[in-house]
Amino acid sequence: MAESRATATWTRRHLLGLGGLRSGELRALLTATRTYAEQGGRSDDRPLEGRTVTNLFFEDSTRTRASFTLAARRLGADVIEFSSVGSSLSKGETPADMARVIESMGVDALVIRDKWAGSPACLARAVSCSVINAGDGSHEHPTQGILDLYTLAEDKGRLDGFDLSGLRVAIVGDLASSRVARSDAWGLNLLGAEVVLVGPKLLVPDSYRGFGGGCEVARDFDAVLPTLDAVIMLRIQFERGSGAALGTAREYRSAYGLTEDRAALMKDEAVVMHPGPMNRGVEIDGSVADGERSLVLRQVAVGVSARMAVLSACTGAARLS
Ligand code: NCD
Repeated sequence: MAESRATATWTRRHLLGLGGLRSGELRALLTATRTYAEQGGRSDDRPLEGRTVTNLFFEDSTRTRASFTLAARRLGADVIEFSSVGSSLSKGETPADMARVIESMGVDALVIRDKWAGSPACLARAVSCSVINAGDGSHEHPTQGILDLYTLAEDKGRLDGFDLSGLRVAIVGDLASSRVARSDAWGLNLLGAEVVLVGPKLLVPDSYRGFGGGCEVARDFDAVLPTLDAVIMLRIQFERGSGAALGTAREYRSAYGLTEDRAALMKDEAVVMHPGPMNRGVEIDGSVADGERSLVLRQVAVGVSARMAVLSACTGAARLS
């Protein structure tokens, strides 16, 4: 059951994941997201004026990287950008050494994306500034979780208190590789939603039952669809080895793709989400991704506000309550 709004506060320096947060902490970040979203993803003041945010993106990214950069700039911060190519990582420097070097120039927050699960937690032990996880291996992607929760709450009229109880949400597809799914599952459970993880055993092992405080596991997508209020579709992450032994893209689509025919089984008011990038014609049909139920572009827009909220909260630039 959600805590009362009065206990919604944030006092942490880092955001490494949604797993382990109290619901009040999560709701404090969502409430701050609302403040920025209501200003169209902008800020009336510049709480990070004179501060510096560094993006360390050691894995490819389009929307997450761009929205962290926009978020930091809209709060008034200076932003520096690094990737593994073109930095001293290619000369053998460790990410922790690199982070300490950057921090010594007077940086207030490090935003890190890495293929290794746990690397933001390692950096957080190496530096004293804020560390924000922008996706680590298949572990967590907490700011995507926050923007997904906000987008869903907004659509369902649950912005007041962010109580998602009574809503049934499926996360479908490559859960084994998905850091987004883990953050979403923790967050949805924390806010009281019913969560069902859907996919073949290779991508959704039976052991995922109970994850995040109470997820169900289901194999038959068609049977689950009419019971849902929202469905979050995931990409097959071929670059992490998923896809081997799954059969062809056509076979996968016929069992687990959100095709136009399948979308017709959903409740009238049920919505479709996807963190992107999408493989159109595999896990989701283009017509569904672009259709009336789709919140895909709203998710991207909310991402800037969610990252503004997290940067303000973790650097202490804004007191959240
Ligand atoms: C995801 C990621 O990189 O974790 N995308 C994102 O950040 N919005 C999902 C994916 O790559 O499939």
